[in-house]
Amino acid sequence: MLAFYRRSLLVTFALWCCLAVSVDSASNSSAALVASNTCQQLVSTLGSSIVQSQSSGSEYTVGANGAWSVFNQEENFLPTCIVFVNSTEDVQTAMKTIFDNKSEYAVQAGGHSAMTGWNTVTDGVLISFMNMNATSYDEEKDTITMQPGILWGAAMTLMETFGVAPVGGRITNVGTGLMLGGGLSYLSPAFGYAADNYVSLDVVLVNGTMVTATVDNEYSDLFKALKGGGNRFGIVTRYEVQAAHVGTAQDKIYWGGIALYPNSSAEAVLTAIAHFSRDTNNTNAVLATDFISVWSNSSVPELTIQLEMNYNGSVEGFNESFAEFLSIPYTSASFGPLSYSDLVNEVSFPDGQGNLFGGSVLEGIASASNSSVDAYLETFQLFNNFSMTFASSSDVSSTLLSFTPVLESQIQYGYAKGGNAISPPMNGGFNEVLFGVTFSQGVTQVPDDIQQGREFFLSNAPSTPGLPLFINECDANQLVFASYGGYEFLQEVYSKYDPTGFNIQYTQGPVGL
Ligand SMILES: Cc1cc2nc3c(=O)[nH]c(=O)nc-3n(C[C@H](O)[C@H](O)[C@H](O)COP(=O)(O)OP(=O)(O)OC[C@H]3O[C@@H](n4cnc5c(N)ncnc54)[C@H](O)[C@@H]3O)c2cc1C
Ligand SMILES: *[C@@H]1O[C@H](CO)[C@@H](O)[C@H](O)[C@H]1NC(C)=O
Ligand SMILES: *[C@@H]1O[C@H](CO)[C@@H](O)[C@H](O)[C@H]1NC(C)=O
Ligand SMILES: *[C@@H]1O[C@H](CO)[C@@H](O)[C@H](O)[C@H]1NC(C)=O
Ligand SMILES: *[C@@H]1O[C@H](CO)[C@@H](O)[C@H](O)[C@H]1NC(C)=O
Ligand SMILES: *[C@@H]1O[C@H](CO)[C@@H](O)[C@H](O)[C@H]1NC(C)=O
Ligand SMILES: *[C@@H]1O[C@H](CO)[C@@H](O)[C@H](O)[C@H]1NC(C)=O
Ligand SMILES: *[C@@H]1O[C@H](CO)[C@@H](O)[C@H](O)[C@H]1NC(C)=O
Ligand SMILES: *[C@@H]1O[C@H](CO)[C@@H](O)[C@H](O)[C@H]1NC(C)=O
Ligand SMILES: *[C@@H]1O[C@H](CO)[C@@H](O)[C@H](O)[C@H]1NC(C)=O
Ligand SMILES: *[C@@H]1O[C@H](CO)[C@@H](O)[C@H](O)[C@H]1NC(C)=O
Ligand SMILES: *[C@@H]1O[C@H](CO)[C@@H](O)[C@H](O)[C@H]1NC(C)=O
Ligand SMILES: *[C@@H]1O[C@H](CO)[C@@H](O)[C@H](O)[C@H]1NC(C)=O
Repeated sequence: MLAFYRRSLLVTFALWCCLAVSVDSASNSSAALVASNTCQQLVSTLGSSIVQSQSSGSEYTVGANGAWSVFNQEENFLPTCIVFVNSTEDVQTAMKTIFDNKSEYAVQAGGHSAMTGWNTVTDGVLISFMNMNATSYDEEKDTITMQPGILWGAAMTLMETFGVAPVGGRITNVGTGLMLGGGLSYLSPAFGYAADNYVSLDVVLVNGTMVTATVDNEYSDLFKALKGGGNRFGIVTRYEVQAAHVGTAQDKIYWGGIALYPNSSAEAVLTAIAHFSRDTNNTNAVLATDFISVWSNSSVPELTIQLEMNYNGSVEGFNESFAEFLSIPYTSASFGPLSYSDLVNEVSFPDGQGNLFGGSVLEGIASASNSSVDAYLETFQLFNNFSMTFASSSDVSSTLLSFTPVLESQIQYGYAKGGNAISPPMNGGFNEVLFGVTFSQGVTQVPDDIQQGREFFLSNAPSTPGLPLFINECDANQLVFASYGGYEFLQEVYSKYDPTGFNIQYTQGPVGL
């Protein structure tokens, strides 16, 4: 995805409104009892500074509010205890105890899941990686090793002195869970999905056993499943990834920046996005797109069309790669030399509100063909219809429609690295589509009418059959795994490593295994 609000746009965010709806967590007293016993057991083995409950620990509140979407924060979910793991062994102990006691659980790394209930739990154990964030560079192997608690901005800052970066998020405060969903990065055209850069992974299986998986050892199937399989295949406690050589903060390797377009240019921009994903055969050209509607007091939410266009190389290469976009009338543009960290710092996303994502996927359209870009225009119409339908709602703060190109070069890179679970077909680039709704401050539960509007969008948005949806940007109920080329493979690997189906039964995550 995505990219989002230019920093300057943030000031336009209205913090007015809203209904404060409190949520009654559906408490299951049997689960509560099991979790309470499991937590007591864990306090006795790991100690009360690692294992904290609401009444006993000073870090508990921080951990219980560590999620980005307020729908996943303490007022909606109350973990029985939070295990602030400090080592792989702690994760093994926690997982074995959870498994033996059959307790509900959840795992949280950077906390940026937009799926309600995926990174927290009520009447269960939350494993938090907040304190496990060591990150280092091995110059000889040219790899970066990260513990799960590091955020992309911090990883980038630590690594840029070495002139390298992990292939990771486009927003600084997102975390490593991104890789488990595949992960789309500004570096993806050249270096594939973020997960395609794994070198080795320490994985704690559902029964507490730890294994190290690589592309060619006895756990190679698990290694591949963790490239897109989300949280279903075990808890990764150490990621070793190939370093990308992006230069330091002084190395302005990119030419580019942000252009804003008026609504009258929307159709031409959508056409250019469809073409870019299919025609671009230059791994140095990086595009991110955002259509953002912001609710204000006017009768129609205000629409901003914001494109981030960046080129690793010269102005000439930039002008050539983005020629179609540059020929469309824009309102303003600021292009110049940028380092990789400038790029990642270009946009941010507001915290402290409820958020929900949903996704679709559209094939790219070659500019030389006569195929229509109607599916792109239809998607935009549905997006506008949502704005019109809920224009007077005080529950919505903003909406986002974002198309992220997955270029053929990215797909090829993944196969060359041994393949991933997503396994897209090798017949041209496509666009992952994100429809995000940001709720107003104070809205702690999704109102029914807005939920119906989201569902209307998701069930009517065109999606090209045979192309993979993107977990990181989908709704919790979408059948993402079933859209993967590697669906059957994933099912087999899942039953091998979690034969009793414990993970599916005791923690939330992608459905359909
Ligand atoms: C503002 C914003 C920008 C984003 N930008 C991008 C982007 O540019 N590219 C992209 O691909 N995605 C992007 N995303 C989506 C994001 O990558 C996913 O939401 C991702 O799951 C977040 O990972 P996290 O560690 O921050 O979140 P968390 O909520 O902590 O984790 C996400 C999921 O992974 C599980 N998990 C986390 N760590 C582990 C682990 N070590 N072992 C097992 N399970 C684990 C969690 O249980 C949860 O289900 C963005 C999201 C937001 C909100
Ligand atoms: C919206 O209108 C209300 C009442 O007229 C006003 O108090 C508020 O500041 C306005 N908000 C914005 C963002 O203009
Ligand atoms: C309650 O929790 C237990 C243990 O986690 C689980 O087996 C059971 O299905 C749950 N019951 C309901 C109604 O959710
Ligand atoms: C966590 O581990 C570090 C070193 O690995 C140690 O210094 C620290 O005391 C540990 N913290 C807790 C709470 O055990
Ligand atoms: C809970 O887990 C611990 C550690 O594995 C085990 O010793 C204990 O018997 C389990 N308790 C129950 C009730 O399953
Ligand atoms: C790592 O986590 C610790 C404890 O939460 C925090 O103080 C520190 O700033 C983090 N380091 C980085 C590089 O993010
Ligand atoms: C930038 O382009 C150069 C030359 O084409 C290439 O060697 C380098 O790997 C690219 N860097 C990135 C970060 O894409
Ligand atoms: C893209 O570039 C590669 C290498 O330069 C070349 O082999 C391939 O044929 C090109 N593909 C298209 C569709 O032009
Ligand atoms: C933008 O244009 C579309 C038609 O392309 C229209 O449906 C929509 O209402 C417009 N949005 C705004 C905010 O003017
Ligand atoms: C790139 O395009 C811009 C117009 O978009 C033009 O002003 C500039 O001269 C071009 N630069 C080069 C080197 O072609
Ligand atoms: C597109 O359509 C025109 C007229 O219908 C036709 O002449 C042309 O060959 C078509 N081009 C392609 C690439 O199919
Ligand atoms: C607009 O969305 C609403 C629900 O959100 C739906 O009932 C209506 O049919 C939609 N209209 C169009 C033209 O898509
Ligand atoms: C844990 O699960 C794995 C995969 O099913 C299995 O190979 C291993 O023997 C199990 N370990 C224990 C201690 O049961």
